[in-house]
Amino acid sequence: MNILIIGAGGREHTFAYKLAQSKQCNKLFVAPGNAGTETIATNVNIGVTDFEKIKELVLTESISMVIVGPEVPLVEGIYDYFKKDPKLSDVSVIGPSAEAAQLEGSKEYAKEFLVKHNIPTAAYQSFTSKTVNEGHAFLETLKAPYVLKADGLAAGKGVLILNNLEEAKSELTDMLTNEKFGAASEKVVIEEFLDGIELSVFVLTDGKNYITLPTAKDYKRIGEGDTGLNTGGMGAISPVPFADEAFMQKIEEQIVKPTINGIIKDKLDYKGFIFIGLIKVDGEPKVIEYNVRMGDPETEAVLPRVKNDLLEVFKHVSNQTLDQVILDLDPRTAVTVMTVAGGYPEAYNKGYEITGVDTVEDSIVFQAGTTTKNDKIVTNGGRVLTLTSFGNDFEEALAVSYKNVKKIKFEDMYYRTDLGFDL
Ligand code: AMP
Ligand code: GLY
Repeated sequence: MNILIIGAGGREHTFAYKLAQSKQCNKLFVAPGNAGTETIATNVNIGVTDFEKIKELVLTESISMVIVGPEVPLVEGIYDYFKKDPKLSDVSVIGPSAEAAQLEGSKEYAKEFLVKHNIPTAAYQSFTSKTVNEGHAFLETLKAPYVLKADGLAAGKGVLILNNLEEAKSELTDMLTNEKFGAASEKVVIEEFLDGIELSVFVLTDGKNYITLPTAKDYKRIGEGDTGLNTGGMGAISPVPFADEAFMQKIEEQIVKPTINGIIKDKLDYKGFIFIGLIKVDGEPKVIEYNVRMGDPETEAVLPRVKNDLLEVFKHVSNQTLDQVILDLDPRTAVTVMTVAGGYPEAYNKGYEITGVDTVEDSIVFQAGTTTKNDKIVTNGGRVLTLTSFGNDFEEALAVSYKNVKKIKFEDMYYRTDLGFDL
């Protein structure tokens, strides 16, 4: 079977790493990929939303399965593009329809879904430029801190948490009337602030059945002790130690099952991953957000623990026979430590040579923002590469990644040395 993975990050390198191990995988393509995927697959220089070029590639290379990594092509309707085209409709696309992708593409859509299906989440109201005054009045009824969310996709930057009421009002005005986040903030969701510890749970569904993958916790802030700006993620730990059996049972009953039942009731066409961002408040799980894809770097910690043939699992997703899959998990903890370019998540340079990748032995290097130039690996993004390691607990696994990260060198390299500090 010939397969195409769409995307260019560590998540996509991890998918490629798992799929390349399958005996059923013949030719493996990644569009556009990175220097890491190039070592195990064929990179094709096509953008993730260039559906016409993707179609051309799928037809010329007789590709029968497409795995979509990032959210943007999903929200833009890549699943529907394939289903509607008679030449492509037999190709399995792992990812939801555009309508279902609204669970990530619109915060308001997600909140309406959560409320309709009685899934625990923060209380909210949403506002537009016509209802700014009502928005201000709603803020006055809440206690600090105030949570403002741009409705649409804003590359992870659309959530503001503010301690001061006046500041919250002026940010709300800015979002709604000055398009602070472009079209994404034409609508804003204001939420009750939830105080607790976060974790994520990953579910794979065929639209009828589902399997729950391991939990993970990611570290989003650039600075030690969770300080500084938000990033795409500086590392992840799986499983999350505080998610014991009793808590997982609550997540399953109160969140995962009602989510899948909601998808069925609402007739959403969904064959793919659901990444549920949760917060534990007074021992109870509440949903903070849905994403309609795997997380990055959570994938780099979660998928290496899955021992099943991933291609076989995806075939069951496509055939809606996921009830036949029994997950075979590595019981050990996996962690991943992300190295980033100096300056990230603000301005940073690209094109620095990376050395040492081949000298790492007991960690898996998943590349993210890398490319090759004159047979050398060079930096090509903010998040550069990540080191995944196993251990009997997260401290043991982290020690291995922190030992091996010293073998990797590129100018102005930075990584957090305190992952797991809050556990
Ligand atoms: P989101 O993009 O919805 O995941 O929000 C980004 C981050 O903002 C989350 O990971 C949380 O840390 C925080 N956050 C979002 N919603 C809330 C909330 N209602 N209460 C507290 N923190 C929140
Ligand atoms: N690591 C967070 C995300 O993938 O959205």
